[in-house]
Parts: sequence; C-alpha cells; structure tokens
Amino acid sequence: MTTVVKKGSLIENCLAVLGRSIDLIGIHGPTVDEVTKDIDLTDKTCLITGANSGIGLEMTKCLSSRNCNVLMACRNPYAANIVAKNVCGSSERLKLYEINLASLRSVKKCSNEILKDQPKIDIVILNAAVFGLPWTLTEDSLETTFQVNYLSQYVLLMNIEKILAPNARVVLVSSESHRHVSWDFNHQLSPTQAMVSLPKHEYTSIRAYNISKLCGIHFMHYLSYRWLNSGKSVFCAHPGSFVKTRLCRNWWPYELLYTTMKPFSKSISQAASTPIYCATSPDLDGLSDAYYKDCKRCEESDLAQDLHLSFRIYDLTKAIVRNRIAASEDVSRVKESVTFPDQTKHSIDENTLVANYTG
Ligand SMILES: NC(=O)c1ccc[n+]([C@@H]2O[C@H](COP(=O)([O-])OP(=O)(O)OC[C@H]3O[C@@H](n4cnc5c(N)ncnc54)[C@H](OP(=O)(O)O)[C@@H]3O)[C@@H](O)[C@H]2O)c1
Repeated sequence: MTTVVKKGSLIENCLAVLGRSIDLIGIHGPTVDEVTKDIDLTDKTCLITGANSGIGLEMTKCLSSRNCNVLMACRNPYAANIVAKNVCGSSERLKLYEINLASLRSVKKCSNEILKDQPKIDIVILNAAVFGLPWTLTEDSLETTFQVNYLSQYVLLMNIEKILAPNARVVLVSSESHRHVSWDFNHQLSPTQAMVSLPKHEYTSIRAYNISKLCGIHFMHYLSYRWLNSGKSVFCAHPGSFVKTRLCRNWWPYELLYTTMKPFSKSISQAASTPIYCATSPDLDGLSDAYYKDCKRCEESDLAQDLHLSFRIYDLTKAIVRNRIAASEDVSRVKESVTFPDQTKHSIDENTLVANYTG
C-alpha cells in the first residue's frame, strides 16, 4: 500500500517542518549527553561556578551522571540545593560552596573552604556570569560585570591552583561577543583599569560583558604560558548565542529578544556541550590554549590573539587585585563571616524556583 502525500497537505507541511528541525538540530550540534556518552569520571572532581542555573546546572547534571564529584560554587546555596536535588537527584557527588563573585572577601572565604576540604581538583569550569546590568560598583569598587565575569574567577582559580591535579583542565565559558571589543593601538599598549572596569559615562552593559569575555580569553593565554610543560591545560568555550537562560533577566528587552530567538537557538543541553567537551573529551589530551565553538576549534578575534596584550592584561589584573586583597584582609579581621540575604527563601515555592533556574 502506498501513502499519497498531496502537495500542500498538512502531512507534507509537517514533514517539511520536521526536516527543517532535523537540520537545525544538526546545526546546533550535539547535547551534553551525546558528547560524554563514552566518558566515565569516577574519582574526578570538578569545580563549577554558577552551577545552579542554565548552562552551569546542565553541566552539573551531566558530570554527576558520569560519576564526577561536582563542587557547585553558587551565590545562593539555599536555592542551589533545592534546584540541584530536583534536577540531579539527591547525590553524594554534589557539594555546595557559597560564593559571591561581586565580593573578593567572599571569593577568599570560598577558596579557603575548598582548600580545607578538597585534596585535588581535576576540572574547573569558570561559568558564572552576569549580563544586562545597569552600571553598579561592587564592594571592591569595581564595575560589577567585570568583577563577576572575570576578575573574581581569576582570583578563585589562582587561590586554588595548588590543589589542581597535575593534568587538570580549566574551561572558561566564553562568548563570541568578545569579537566586538575594539581598542586602539595606544590602549592596547598600556591597558588601564578604566578600560576593563568601565566608569559610568563609558558604560553600556553589552560593552562591559564583551570586555569581560575578552579578558577571560587573555587569561587563558596567560595560564597556558604559566602551565607550559606541566600537564595542565586551559580552554575557552563559546556555548552558543541567545540560549534562553536566566542570563537575560536583568533587562526586559533582552528577555524579549532571547525569548523570541528561543526556537532558533541551541537548547541548554546543546549549549552545555562545548564547555563539557573541552572539560572532558580525550580528543583534547595534550592540547591547551584554544578557543572552541560548536565542539570545534576556532580562532578567537585578532585582539584576543595578541599575546603581548595577554601579559599586559595579566599585569593590570594583578595590580587591581593586589590593593583590594590587602584592603579586604583588613575588613575581614573585623567581620569574620560574610552573610548574604536569602531573598529566595520565603518568597518563592520549590517548583517555581526549579522552573526559573532551568530556563
Ligand atoms: N545564554 C547565552 O546565550 C550565552 C551566550 C554566550 C555565553 N554564555 C555564557 O554562558 C555562561 C552561563 O550562562 P547562562 O546562560 O547559563 O546564564 P545563567 O542561567 O544566568 O547562569 C549564570 C550563573 O552565574 C551566577 N552568578 C551571577 N552573578 C554571580 C555572583 N555575583 N556570584 C556568584 N555567582 C553568580 C548565577 O547565579 P544566580 O543564580 O545566583 O544569579 C548563575 O548561576 C556565562 O558565562 C555566559 O556568559 C551564555
């Protein structure tokens, strides 16, 4: 018996849509489960920042399902605990650490706790980020996007460097938007704090975000030089564009744009696949210092490839951190523990909370 499909019929249209969807799935690449299907991470430990939401949560779920111990460094441990239990199940493999990346005091406290608890870390995924904020300064007097997306995660990694496994892998979750930064020659020769931690009159949220991601790629270049001839490696991974997570929540036009783009962009699981590929794939053994997109190596922007600039940004970062660490040590002598208001605790039920964090 033959099935006749009339031109323009419903079935034909459905098949066309299905075909296009299959194409889109192809373009959008594999999911995290597909890229890790043959991988067993028993006895490995991975630290992930921003592990409670969106792409970070998807990576946490995937890694714990591959028997990896996951250290979830999150701003709101109460919410993170509920979300992790709902999404990943109650697992002894998950451990929560409280960190507020807008505070160097909090970063130090979290690093000390990790150093106290953990003998070694095999994988670090620096994933946390903010986007679309109005201009604000942190308690360390730095522009918030710059500090959260780059500087504090640099400090966290440097603080725990001594417990990284000899063959540790570090992945910085990056973005194609780093390509939109343009600095003239003089600025490239001597970068200043105002170029990375933008003052109010030069601030747009997208500019601050792009700069923070560019700094992350330069940090990768610096680290790969620092770890030359060691077994450690470092990669940057672009997850995908317009992936509908909570990243766009800070400004309604972004929320609208990401919602509109959702049918055409990667799913969260597809977005998590490139960072997870960089963090776990044996294909990358022996490699380091590379930028990945769609699970494939790709060239970062010319500005991001400039190694001289990487060292200048590193020197600048060190100088910015040095004064503030000294200042924060003075303060922490007075105030021993950092506490964060737990706004989620009484205002939202468990199901809504989980739905929010999983996009
Ligand atoms: N979504 C995209 O289209 C896209 C595109 C390119 C690159 N990326 C990158 O992918 C990564 C993951 O983003 P996502 O889309 O999954 O966004 P998301 O759902 O908003 O996740 C961001 C994570 O960062 C955490 N975070 C923000 N501020 C923090 C702070 N001060 N201290 C500690 N943690 C903080 C958030 O914690 P809270 O839950 O407490 O806020 C959250 O866990 C980011 O690096 C982002 O730049 C995303």
